Amino acid sequence: MTPPPPDGPSPTGSLLAVSDLHVRYAENRAVVEALRPSSDQDWLLVAGDVGEQMADIEWALATLAARFRKVVWAPGNHELWTPPDDPVQARGAARYDALVRLCRDLGVTSPEDPYPVWRGPGGPAAVVPLFLLYDYSFRQPGVRTAEEALRRADEAGVVATDEFLLHSDPYPTVADWCRARVLRTAERLAALPADLPTVLVNHFPLVREPTEVLRYPEFALWCGTESTADWPVRYRAAAVVYGHLHIPRLIRKQGVPHHEVSLGYPREWRRRSTAPGRPVRILPAAAPGTGSRP
Ligand SMILES: [Fe+2]
Ligand SMILES: [Fe+2]
Repeated sequence: MTPPPPDGPSPTGSLLAVSDLHVRYAENRAVVEALRPSSDQDWLLVAGDVGEQMADIEWALATLAARFRKVVWAPGNHELWTPPDDPVQARGAARYDALVRLCRDLGVTSPEDPYPVWRGPGGPAAVVPLFLLYDYSFRQPGVRTAEEALRRADEAGVVATDEFLLHSDPYPTVADWCRARVLRTAERLAALPADLPTVLVNHFPLVREPTEVLRYPEFALWCGTESTADWPVRYRAAAVVYGHLHIPRLIRKQGVPHHEVSLGYPREWRRRSTAPGRPVRILPAAAPGTGSRP
């Protein structure tokens, strides 16, 4: 059988992915307005950082939900911020709950819904939007505790805005919230049929390797958790989708493709040679050895 073209539309639908739409920027809103499926069977995975203001998030998800057969969303850190100028001042878990309610109203699948099964080309696969956060375990060599890591990052002048705008209420810290989410999510993943592959969709990388190319290595603290390192293999991932780093690329680890699918900020995507906002095809998979976008 001839493998599918590396990046072409599938005549019977594709599982597509994008992240970090950051629609606070007018240029990025224009990208979202121009974003269309290639067939009426396409699903779109949106791996977080749609925006910060609740009204912006609603606009973007509603726009996409009207165009794609199904939209699946995983929250980014930016959706979880409580910006001082947002009329919606919910914090922490209450803000996440409000986002989940918004998704339900729009018909968008969130991490709180049953995992839908993609049965199009390259399927079947359970599509699993994840909400896991980070726990400061992506530390530099020799740094033993989260406290020490945060102190060193502060000394290096690298502190994520999350520390000021992403609140963890009612959990004492984001790391505590992360641990609770990891435990609960692992239970749900373990309950899936043992012969069903998955597509794991998380804002943050599930493995540490993608953070090794960060310009500021200390920033890895806000990029994931070591506790998911074995999830891609353990939970039979046909693919992992992530964003957050604003470094679009494809790596393979233990045979599993990990796609970073971010659009990013205008100053970032303007430098790229590719057209902005083109979703990455996740399934059907491109043949190994080819990227899903140049
Ligand atoms: Fe982002
Ligand atoms: Fe992010």
